[in-house]
Amino acid sequence: MASQSAIGIHDLSFATTEFVLPHTALAAHNGTDIGKYHLGIGQHSMSVAAADEDVVTLAAAAAEPLIARHGTDRIRTVVFATESSIDQAKSAGVYVHSLLGMPSYTRVVELKQACYGATAALQFAIGLVHRDPEQQVLVIASDVSKYELDSPGEATQGAAAVALLVGKDPALVRIDGPSGLFTADVMDFWRPNYRESALVDGQESITAYLQAVEGTWKDYTEQGGQALDAFSAFCYHQPFTKMAHKAHHHLLSTCGYDTDAVDVKRLIGRTTAYNAVVGNSYTASMYLGLAALLDHPEDLTDQDVGFFSYGSGSVAEFFAGRVVPGYRKHLRTEQHREAIDRRGTLDYAAYRELHERSFPTDGGDHPTPVQTTGSFRLAALRGHKRIYERR
Ligand code: CAA
Repeated sequence: MASQSAIGIHDLSFATTEFVLPHTALAAHNGTDIGKYHLGIGQHSMSVAAADEDVVTLAAAAAEPLIARHGTDRIRTVVFATESSIDQAKSAGVYVHSLLGMPSYTRVVELKQACYGATAALQFAIGLVHRDPEQQVLVIASDVSKYELDSPGEATQGAAAVALLVGKDPALVRIDGPSGLFTADVMDFWRPNYRESALVDGQESITAYLQAVEGTWKDYTEQGGQALDAFSAFCYHQPFTKMAHKAHHHLLSTCGYDTDAVDVKRLIGRTTAYNAVVGNSYTASMYLGLAALLDHPEDLTDQDVGFFSYGSGSVAEFFAGRVVPGYRKHLRTEQHREAIDRRGTLDYAAYRELHERSFPTDGGDHPTPVQTTGSFRLAALRGHKRIYERR
């Protein structure tokens, strides 16, 4: 049996939406000083899903390059993490499994605990690989984040999917050591089944997030985790990029460090480039932070990264990963840049129209307008069934 230290993230790929709304357009609409968005929350633009795009098409687009590179022979499990689920019963991962032509000898399941779901998926995947090191697990985090129009949360919307291939002898990041865990029953952010957009108590959510930082760190330390200064970078869940800075300041002061003396930007700054222009991608957000960190030109070989995953409600986890020698050869930096650069810029009116769109619930035949140009699209809702197409 392989040792735990030889298991981790073998490949990582992300995809985002067809469209983007710059925060300048939102600020012009609602009269907000752009400094609040650019500096106050650290966001510049948000990915916006087209009418024929959803968590399934984003997930398929993220996972397709992994399947192209590694094939499907060793992947016996697909775990799909999302909090913008499209069905109460069927896992969105089953559609992705079909779109990617994966073999029937696969187990596919969906996991939910707000933005934390993908970390649960990663940990469960490590357990499965530990049990049978010849197997790989495809972990997909995919979300479209939607708040009410003209609400404070609106500026933190976004959408993306990250696909991780988890296996032994990983080419990118080994997941090492214990996890620090924290669960607390709070109502900081939630989405009842009958709502398309999330409900949130903004300031309560920030407080709950910071308490979870403290709680996970305490448990991580008690479980025998590394010292804070062993880490070269920290990847936080980023509902907005400024939150990562707030969180690290909080962790440092909790640990008794003088926050002015520590270069927070050096430890956090390399993780925010994608999130600042994509927005909150919920389950995918922390892994988008990892993508940005790995794609950053500074070499991270053999360095330890601290991960803080937070899902409102709330469940959180702190864990560590070590970047593997030779990781640069396996990166998808160009593909990631292209995913961001190819988005078409919306004006405010077009964004609003997309935001207000929803499918009729009458079970009729409702084709979607062709807006996407990528490999996968949601073609229609017909007889209450989602119909997907691969181009
Ligand atoms: N120039 C520069 N900075 C400015 C500014 C200006 N002109 N105007 C305001 N600011 C600063 C403020 O000082 C503030 O900074 P600090 O927090 O450092 O003090 C920042 O901009 C934001 O201003 P407000 O607090 O007034 O903003 P708000 O109340 O309108 O909304 C928010 C902020 C609560 C985060 C809101 O966007 C929201 O509800 N977002 C959704 C919830 C969320 O993201 N919560 C995060 C934790 S929960 C989580 O992580 C799970 C998840 O994914 C949802």
